[in-house]
Order: sequence, then structure tokens, then C-alpha cells
Amino acid sequence: MIPSNKQIGVGSVKISKRAKKYLHEVIRSNRLSYGPFSERFEQALAQAHDSSYGVFVNSGTSALQIAVAALKERYQWNDGDEIIVPALTFVASSNVILKNNLTPVFVDVDARHYNIDPHTIEGAITPKTKAIMVVHLFGQPADMDPLMALAKRHNLRVIEDSCETMFARYKGKSVGSFGDISCFSTYACHIICTGVGGLAVTSNRELAVLLRSLANHGRDAIYFSMDHDATDDPQKLKMIMEKRFSFIRLGYSYRATEMEAALGLAQLEEIDKNIPKRRKNAQVLLQGLQKWEQYLQLPALLPGAEHSFMMFPLVIKTPSIKKQELTFFLEQRNIETRDMLPLTNQPYKKKLFGEELEERFPIAKYINQHGFYIGCHPELTRRDLQYVLGVFDAFFAQYNQQKREYSAREIVI
Ligand SMILES: Cc1ncc(COP(=O)(O)O)c(C=O)c1O
Repeated sequence: MIPSNKQIGVGSVKISKRAKKYLHEVIRSNRLSYGPFSERFEQALAQAHDSSYGVFVNSGTSALQIAVAALKERYQWNDGDEIIVPALTFVASSNVILKNNLTPVFVDVDARHYNIDPHTIEGAITPKTKAIMVVHLFGQPADMDPLMALAKRHNLRVIEDSCETMFARYKGKSVGSFGDISCFSTYACHIICTGVGGLAVTSNRELAVLLRSLANHGRDAIYFSMDHDATDDPQKLKMIMEKRFSFIRLGYSYRATEMEAALGLAQLEEIDKNIPKRRKNAQVLLQGLQKWEQYLQLPALLPGAEHSFMMFPLVIKTPSIKKQELTFFLEQRNIETRDMLPLTNQPYKKKLFGEELEERFPIAKYINQHGFYIGCHPELTRRDLQYVLGVFDAFFAQYNQQKREYSAREIVI
């Protein structure tokens, strides 16, 4: 095995020639807040996900926060109403529900694909249930057909937390186009990375207007951009001037800058190179790790769904292999790992929902205790992937050797 001096990260940043050109355009234009790049990025990202409107904000969490707030206002939900959310996801999914004075109701996930299990939802529905927050984890869509049927049957709204998944279709339809509102993150290590950033997309015009208002201090929708000042129509100008400081709801200041939008747009225009590379990298890892399948659950493709492999998730099947030992072995050899989404064991959630929270969702608990992910991003070379596979080989060779020594000792005793 070739020792690697290079960090094999869970994500990467590559600022391409196109991105640098766009960033220079931003600097030359003297325009940093909402402008042409933000508008182009919003439109292009929404369109790429079969949606009509996009609102670019400063994080995926902000996008989710205004998505829930917009639906709460539009459908007149009361404080304490409930939203169903998976017990395995990043903390932000349920945090935004709490921050909107609503109640997250957790349900367990599918053990093979890690997304919300549609079969667990029906039993969690109460008269207070208003929506399902579907989370598409690691680059793979959740099983949307049964979910949408259930939402329709119970008249529930659907929010897609697609912060980890872009450019993946489920039965021909893109993630982001199923829900009333869907949210993406462009934070570090995500499929599009702008440093910080997030988008809420929708095909409902009324909701799009609400989202933009909420991200902009609750302003009247008539005034969102400096460009709108420039009009030859005196009537329109008068109206804009009247409404410029008209705040019609309690909003947030969640705006992003033209710099992030320029980075995002450049990456979006180059996505046709990057998604196939992620999928190819995943194939190499899948093939190379197949020989350890008795110990590791490898990523499985949901029938009818594409996987964009934001990450490469792994779950240890053998209880005698401790996750901490394997991830330490990898990290010592410069291969970054992350736990597969601690949530129900976190102090704050236990304080709110009870000490036994984790016990109520055994699949999420198992994945949380035994699951971790490694990178699959387009900057990984063939040599990097061979190195990663070699490190796994070394770990399992050592594990098997220890097992043999242990059984030999037992025989002697
Ligand atoms: C499933 C999920 N939801 C929400 C978020 C929040 O996104 P951000 O970090 O951009 O706020 C993340 C972040 O990685 C995530 O993985």
C-alpha cells in the first residue's frame, strides 16, 4: 500500500477557471448584494430540479427555516402543530421545526437506504400533523411514491430537505420537485460548494414570494432588489418608493452575496462533468469493498432512483468491529470520516424529547452507532481511491489475523 501524505477529504473545493472569471466579474461590477449572478443561479438551480422559482440564502438551514415559516403562514398552522421528520438526519432538519414553534415528530428510517421509511409515517400522524419533512441523505432520493401518496391521502404538505442531494431523479422526476418547497445547501463538502449558502425552490408563485419576503426582513414583495428602483414608469416608481420600507411580516436577514452566487453558478454549469465522476468514484469503491461485504453494508441503489453520491456511506454489520477502531485506523492514514448523523443521542434532543429518545428508533440508533461516511467527490483520483481501498484491506487483514489468534488461544485454553 502506498502511504498517502494527501488528505482524502469528505469533500473538496475546486475553484475552476470559469468560477474565477465569474468572481472577477463580480468584483469589477461593484455589486456584492443580490444582483445578476444571484438571479441566474436561482433560476438555473431551480430549473435543474424541475422547479420554477429559487431563493438563494446564506445556508441550507436558513432555506429550511423560511420554507417551514412560509408554509406555516400560508396554511395558517398553529404553534405546536406537528411535522414528521426522520430520526436519522442532520440536526438542522428538526431544529428549524422547533425554531418555528412547531413540533418535530420523529420516525425511523429504512435500514438499507437510510432515508425516511414511508411505512413508519402513518402511525405517527395525529390531528396536529401538517407536513412531512422528507430528507434525501448522502445524494440519494427517499422513496417518494409511497410518501407522496400518503401525504395526499392525509392532506399533508411536503418539504424536501435536499441539502445533501442535488441532480438525482426518482422515477424520472428530480429531487426538489416533489415537495411544496425544497431546500438545498451549498455549504462546504456539498455537491455544489459556495462556502456558505442554500436555496429554497418551489413551483408555487405565492410561496416563492413569501420565501423571498421572509429572507429579506419580511419586506413587501414589491421591493427586493436595487434593480427594481430603475424604472421609467412613474406610477411603478411611486409604488416602489411607498413599499420600499414596508415590512409586512416578521422576517429574517438571510441574504447571500454575489460572490457565493458566482461560485454556485460556475459549478452548476460544470455539473455534467462532476456528477458522473462522483458516480464513477462510487463504483470503484463499491467494487473494491465488495470483498468485505460480510463486515460492511455498502451503499445500495433504491430501485428507480439515481444517486449523486455526495458521500459514500458505510454501516458496519459485525458488532465485534468497533466503528471507532475502524474510523481511527482510516483517519490515522489521512482518510477523513464522519459519523452517520448523530441526532437522537444528542444532549439537546434528549433534554427536549426524553432520555429514551434514541431507543424509540432502533434503526436510526444502529446506523448512528455503526455508520460513517467517507468522501466520493470528483477531485479524488484513481490512485486516491486505490489507496482508500488498500487501507480498508489492511484493516480487515489485521482484524482477521486478530480473530485467528483469538480462536487459536481459545483452543489452547
Ligand atoms: C440533511 C441536512 N439538512 C440541513 C443541512 C443544513 O445546511 P447548512 O449547513 O447549509 O445550514 C445539512 C447540512 O449539511 C444537511 O446535511
